[in-house]
Amino acid sequence: MDSGGVLRLDEDQQKALQEEGRVILKASAGSGKTTTIVGLYLHLLRKGVGTHEIVAITFTEKAAAELKERIYRGVMGEEKLKEKERIVTALTHAPIGTIHSFCASILRDYPLEAGVHPDFRVFEEVESDQILTEAVRTYLDRLNSIT
Ligand SMILES: Nc1ncnc2c1ncn2[C@@H]1O[C@H](COP(=O)(O)OP(=O)(O)OP(=O)(O)O)[C@@H](O)[C@H]1O
Ligand SMILES: [Mg+2]
Repeated sequence: MDSGGVLRLDEDQQKALQEEGRVILKASAGSGKTTTIVGLYLHLLRKGVGTHEIVAITFTEKAAAELKERIYRGVMGEEKLKEKERIVTALTHAPIGTIHSFCASILRDYPLEAGVHPDFRVFEEVESDQILTEAVRTYLDRLNSIT
């Protein structure tokens, strides 16, 4: 396989490229999961799959930024990739990010269907803690006023 400036995947990592459809990677810390995902992403691009057709999601902002950066570097290092420049540009809008941002983008596209305000935003953790505390307090107050 052309490593395209990205690490050559070992035998186990290569298996992820042979699977069609969904792939679940489960391995210990630092064992090469992100490397495999980047390899899979590049493999799909080489097959002609569009950046908008590949959803690459992770949990933290930090992991998402690392994934995007490594995919970007991988694409830059690909010598044989057709339309590389167009793909590099398209990567800016590619769905590579946190699961929260991916879900938010779907809700923003379909606010009526989802029953949410089109201008909603995701709470920061501190905010959500405060709101949850307030909601529980309001609920308990109501409960107290009934009994
Ligand atoms: N096939 C490989 N050959 C050589 N080095 C590799 C290979 N796969 C991964 N590595 C190296 O191993 C290290 C960890 O890889 P990677 O970041 O992909 O692991 P990870 O499982 O995603 O880690 P984390 O659990 O921290 O997210 C990196 O330095 C990477 O360059
Ligand atoms: Mg990783």
